Amino acid sequence: MKILAIETSCDDTGIAVLDNSKILSNIVSSQIEIHRKWGGVYPALAKREHQKNLIIVLKKALSRANLLERENSFDSKKEGKIKEILYREKDLLKEFLDFLKKYKKPKIDMIAITVGPGLEPCLFSGLNFAKALSFYFDIPLFAVNHIEAHILSNFIPRRKEKKLQFEKSIFPALCLIVSGGHTQLVLMNKIGKYKTIGETRDDAAGECFDKTARILGLSYPGGPSIAKEAAKKEKEKKFSICLPRPMINSKDYDFSFSGLKTAVLYKTKEDKKLINSDYKREMAREIQQAIIDVLIKKTLRAARDFKVKTIILGGGVSANNELRKQMKLKAKGFNFFVPEKRFAGDNGAMIGFAAFLKKEKGKDWKKAKVNANLKI
Ligand code: KG4
Ligand code: ZN
Repeated sequence: MKILAIETSCDDTGIAVLDNSKILSNIVSSQIEIHRKWGGVYPALAKREHQKNLIIVLKKALSRANLLERENSFDSKKEGKIKEILYREKDLLKEFLDFLKKYKKPKIDMIAITVGPGLEPCLFSGLNFAKALSFYFDIPLFAVNHIEAHILSNFIPRRKEKKLQFEKSIFPALCLIVSGGHTQLVLMNKIGKYKTIGETRDDAAGECFDKTARILGLSYPGGPSIAKEAAKKEKEKKFSICLPRPMINSKDYDFSFSGLKTAVLYKTKEDKKLINSDYKREMAREIQQAIIDVLIKKTLRAARDFKVKTIILGGGVSANNELRKQMKLKAKGFNFFVPEKRFAGDNGAMIGFAAFLKKEKGKDWKKAKVNANLKI
């Protein structure tokens, strides 16, 4: 079965083509340069960029999968309905109609689309685009939960891997999802069966990286910037910076990162005159370690309390080298999964792979709905 998968929940426009579990193409157009100016993602701006990018990314993804063929056979009877579906996607409509006029129906059996959670305007662009494709080419649509896709991205077969990893006995598992919008601990008993046992009460871990990076004058997205700064060769510690580890000892499995951000804000104000490149490096290292300490301590405690066999990481922050390394060391006695780095951040492949694993056939395009607060 060939799957076309679309992801637009935040600031990445991702489209992939899969042949069952095999990734034929996976194109991600990042909007980093646009959002860098503002130090964060503005939903209305991100939506407009998705509208501009979707057809470009679609063509690249189909072409790389050898599924883009020219043909002039536009069915003009369908034009009215397309205009209706893309009513709020004005920047996309013209390109969309041009695409239909130039290319043949791609040999795709199902379209997978992220319907939540995420930024509502962005989710709508992706879903309306998917609906228009589904309607015009008469291909069923399958709605995917973005968080579930981050979890399942761990099982995308590595090159040369024959057997899918989850066929081994790895459940129950505990998933730590850490991204720009989410920090959650989720118990997983099998594919499709999840229970959230803890989540952030305020900022997500990725958001904390992004906001503290901004305070330090480091570029967006903050996670990679802080990680890069922190990885610079250690000189002796000069500033003795010591940040709090919020909620690290609380009895529940929730998180809170806004206090850490505030602590960085106050500390840098206090030390205004001291800030130089050594200070930034030391501060970046302490921010990263404070976040990692909390994530690891709470994950391990939950893993022991719930007697799981496996710990699974997912989401953009799971690309962090130190988090991967330190969690692996501490997770001795458990199976440990991290997604390949190319599947850690938002991408279409994980959406398509989630649709593949769930073995659904897809539904009528009219049934799919956006839910910005979709739970797992
Ligand atoms: O999953 P994702 O691509 O988008 C959301 O669903 O939110 O995650 C994006 C987040 C951003 O906050 C970014 O700063 C963070 O992931 N991130 C990292 C790293 N790479 C991306 N955080 C820490 N270390 C990294 N290497
Ligand atoms: Zn994500």
